[in-house]
Amino acid sequence: MVDLNTTKSKIKMVLIGAGNRGRGVFGRYALDNPHKAEYVAVVEPDDEKRAIFGAEHNIPESRRFKASEDFFRKNGKIADAIIIATLETERLNIILGSIDKQYNILVEKPLGCTMEEVLKIADAASRFKEIFVVCHQMRYVAGYDIIKSLIKSGRFGKIIAMQHSENLSYHHMAHSFVRGLFNNDSMTPMILAKSCHDMDIMRYLIDKRPLRVSSFGNLNYFRKENAPEGAPNYCLQGCHEYKNCPYDVQKIYFNENTDPAYIRQMGIVKNNQELFELLRHNQFGRCVFKCNNNVVDHQVVHIEFEDGITGSFQMAGHNYLERRITKLSLTNGEIYFDTNEGLIQASTFAPANEEIIKPAGMESSHMGGDKAIMDAFVDAICTGEKKHIITPVEMSLDSHLMAFAAEKARLNNLVVDINEFESECRKKI
Ligand SMILES: NC(=O)c1ccc[n+]([C@@H]2O[C@H](COP(=O)([O-])OP(=O)(O)OC[C@H]3O[C@@H](n4cnc5c(N)ncnc54)[C@H](O)[C@@H]3O)[C@@H](O)[C@H]2O)c1
Repeated sequence: MVDLNTTKSKIKMVLIGAGNRGRGVFGRYALDNPHKAEYVAVVEPDDEKRAIFGAEHNIPESRRFKASEDFFRKNGKIADAIIIATLETERLNIILGSIDKQYNILVEKPLGCTMEEVLKIADAASRFKEIFVVCHQMRYVAGYDIIKSLIKSGRFGKIIAMQHSENLSYHHMAHSFVRGLFNNDSMTPMILAKSCHDMDIMRYLIDKRPLRVSSFGNLNYFRKENAPEGAPNYCLQGCHEYKNCPYDVQKIYFNENTDPAYIRQMGIVKNNQELFELLRHNQFGRCVFKCNNNVVDHQVVHIEFEDGITGSFQMAGHNYLERRITKLSLTNGEIYFDTNEGLIQASTFAPANEEIIKPAGMESSHMGGDKAIMDAFVDAICTGEKKHIITPVEMSLDSHLMAFAAEKARLNNLVVDINEFESECRKKI
């Protein structure tokens, strides 16, 4: 049994799911901040990933588990916190097991694959006394934090409308949502898998409840009929179009700017030779026009919030630069933020004034949000002070409702009333 009372300047954690996010982000955090946190156990079904994570964090064999059921059954509470970084298909029982053992919890978004699952989790978590954080790390990004303070200052007046867009780079779209893990709504629709962060940041900045939602969007481009004639199923089977195709795997995965997260999702890949061999047959090597994808490649969502505030959101997967652009119109000013420029332009009408603010600390992964949310989680556990937790589960419930309601609106050509939608979903649990 691990002693939990030694010191609270450093916490002990368990990782469930040592994949891209688990090892690459949450594991990295402990390696970079050994004075704040350490892993004492890991649960991961893949033998190679479990062994590598165990070795990187000096976890003894006896605390490396293949299945969470085993981990919960064999152990009492052996750490201060659990980090859950499995796919969303593997969340519900793991969260309920962690609540049962009274662990502080940080769980990846989205909370589940259906609204019913999310409601079950939110209900269980609302009766829970420990810390429960949903990894909506955008709220912790310095730029959005500054915007929140500008709004709170009152100088800009009341929010009237918000325009927000998520511009996915063409290669991120292809990797994650055409070839990759999140390409099919049999798991999650795009609005949940990717844009639940955007629903969440709109809910957070506007700080009013959403009332009604409408949405349009479709899968326009990544379809079989758009494949070049004669293109093989895999790029590396000798596609004659490889020179012209931006999605050719040699351009996307062997580039000095390739996001390491892309490779981590393929498992443990030791070198480019191994990567090349994998891409001959794994899902990421497929022709982008010949995948089992069905999630949208562009979508708009319109939301009416309390107090008559309107929000509009646009996601598109055809962009050179990956960036989010946010613009708030207020009764005495406007606030504009482009994450690629990394600058906030904030103007008031009276006095007529324009300010340019450069937020600091937006360089590391997810614009600094990943480290910031982990810092807040660890500090809250160490100090017992929850005030820096700005992504508690009850606040995330609305963002999930917005995403699921938007998908219902898109699929059924409806305007969806959020309260009615929540009641309908509650009847099913
Ligand atoms: N917050 C963000 O910005 C952000 C970014 C990317 C992904 N995500 C989310 O993070 C989650 C993980 O994504 P990823 O890219 O790391 O995927 P991944 O497939 O690389 O990692 C998931 C890991 O969980 C393991 N696993 C599967 N079933 C398990 C179980 N029952 N118990 C324990 N481990 C299990 C898998 O073997 C795998 O190693 C997803 O829900 C995704 O939506 C969040």
